Amino acid sequence: MKGVILAGGLGTRLYPLTKITNKHLLPVYDKPMIYYPLLTLVKAGIKDIMIITGGNNAGDFLRLLGNGNAFGLKNLQYSYQERELGIAHALKLAEHFVEGDLCMVLLGDNIVEDDLAPAVKEFEKKGEGAKVFLKEVENPCDYGVAVMEDNKIIKIIEKPESPPTNYAITGIYMYDSRVFQFIDSLKPSSRGEYEITDVNNLYIERGELEYEVLDGWWGDAGASIDALLESNIYVAKKIKRNPEHWWNFRQKNNGD
Ligand code: DAU
Repeated sequence: MKGVILAGGLGTRLYPLTKITNKHLLPVYDKPMIYYPLLTLVKAGIKDIMIITGGNNAGDFLRLLGNGNAFGLKNLQYSYQERELGIAHALKLAEHFVEGDLCMVLLGDNIVEDDLAPAVKEFEKKGEGAKVFLKEVENPCDYGVAVMEDNKIIKIIEKPESPPTNYAITGIYMYDSRVFQFIDSLKPSSRGEYEITDVNNLYIERGELEYEVLDGWWGDAGASIDALLESNIYVAKKIKRNPEHWWNFRQKNNGD
């Protein structure tokens, strides 16, 4: 299974911090935000990864992460989204990289505590369909929200005014290669973006969207300044209490 991390977008909710850099390069405790989705994929056993970014600071990702050797990656590639036309639009750029394989997509501002290796193994065994990961939250109107019936998701509503449940769709997705055909059939939403929620609803229509509820902590560090602060505090406490935790990763400097 291939890994894709989406790290484009304008990050306007974090202005002025994102006026001069990409959101995913901002610190979450002792390292840039992008490290966390990268480490999540590595922990899950995925070592063939594409990072999709955009904007004025795209070159900084290359300087920061290089060829991925420091993370034990087999292959690290990059692509560039020329306009911020949505998550699904960014994902489409990975089509040639994924090359008919399965893919796990992570939003570059999501901090995930769970070890996703078992879910990856299970999805590889199944070999088709799609899977999303839910988390119960206090502010569901800020997310895609799952509508459930008989233990199945029957619909996902993007940032609803009156959320039907407290279950947010996190930025962790697993897809078979049909995802790219589904993206081709999308129309932009009212906010002018190609929405990943529309892709997921196409899988739901076919009865092929599975879900799992995350056990551990989950943070959408890019959602607001307060969410960024909360992520910093959570990660700092976790690493200090448990220095063996896989979040405690430092890329060595030559002088170290
Ligand atoms: O974090 C989970 C939520 O992420 C889900 O619950 C929502 O259903 C989903 O739409 C998304 O909502 P956000 O409003 O948080 O998405 P955001 O605009 O912050 O973009 C998420 C990531 O995708 C971000 O790290 C950058 C990347 N992105 C975004 C856009 C709009 C791109 O790479 N290109 C883009 O054009």
